[in-house]
Amino acid sequence: MKTKFVRHFLTLLDLSPQECNTLIERAIELKKAHKACKSSEPSCQQLKNKVLGLIFEKSSTRTRVSFEAAMMQSGGGSLFLSPRDTQFGRGEPTEDSARVLSRMLDIIAIRTFEHQRLEKFAKYSSVPVINALTDDYHPCQLLADMQTYYEHKGSIAGNIVAWIGDGNNMCQSYINAAKQFDFQLNIACPKGFEPNQHLIATNKNRVHLCHDPVTAVKEAKLIATDVWTSMGQEEEQNIRLKTFASFQVTPKLLDQADNDVIFMHCLPAHRGEEVSALTLEDSRSVIWDEAENRLHAQKALLEFLLKSTQA
Ligand code: CP
Ligand code: NVA
Repeated sequence: MKTKFVRHFLTLLDLSPQECNTLIERAIELKKAHKACKSSEPSCQQLKNKVLGLIFEKSSTRTRVSFEAAMMQSGGGSLFLSPRDTQFGRGEPTEDSARVLSRMLDIIAIRTFEHQRLEKFAKYSSVPVINALTDDYHPCQLLADMQTYYEHKGSIAGNIVAWIGDGNNMCQSYINAAKQFDFQLNIACPKGFEPNQHLIATNKNRVHLCHDPVTAVKEAKLIATDVWTSMGQEEEQNIRLKTFASFQVTPKLLDQADNDVIFMHCLPAHRGEEVSALTLEDSRSVIWDEAENRLHAQKALLEFLLKSTQA
């Protein structure tokens, strides 16, 4: 039997830098086609009649809706599989679920806690698996962020990006993005909330860690942040609120960056915590474009993974 080569997207590093850039270009093209609505035929033929499975163990608005809309707009379909209703949520082994579901579905997106669970699922899946967020990484969001930066300001290569706040799954995805899209990343987080040390060490030529937001945003062309308490960390909320108090992104902080800076937040945002209400409404904020681009970037991703997974 011929071995099938399956492309997964568990982190940004599963694509080459060139593939990352091509995917962003395609996302921009698909966005234009979607807005122009030139023909009754979907612009993403690869997804026609395909079925995407969405296994989500954590809440989601943007990721779920953008994936489902992407499939519908392209003539395919999707199945939302909540662990509340499936055997996956009742302890059926990951490797068994992966082997069964991948015989029925064409592509699978998973939102879960441990990144290792996603990796195990991918290992046993005969179809592409997409990371729809784990405790460690959220690469789909970075595709949308990079598309948004490109649309507003052109190439991000060679620029300074500042990450303010928790060294969480989004921050760690920005570290991978620094490598794949060739920018310098300044991270400002409270002591004890740094991203994975190994990840920092392997990217030390392009990632600078500090504990002061003003230092981090100096000359930055992009400032990004995320919630202080991620899903699954709810019991730490009170201590996090206190520890992160001086890490709020305000218009004043944006003023300390490059004149051309833009602001991103993957959302949902907690006004008065990691970001002020004024920052979200500031003319430098591109958060609504960023959210919309989840749809276009993921359409390009689905197409790419299905195209490059050949029997
Ligand atoms: N940014 C993001 O992934 O949002 P959801 O949790 O709503 O999917
Ligand atoms: N860091 C956040 C991102 C939500 C999209 C979380 O994991 O809850």
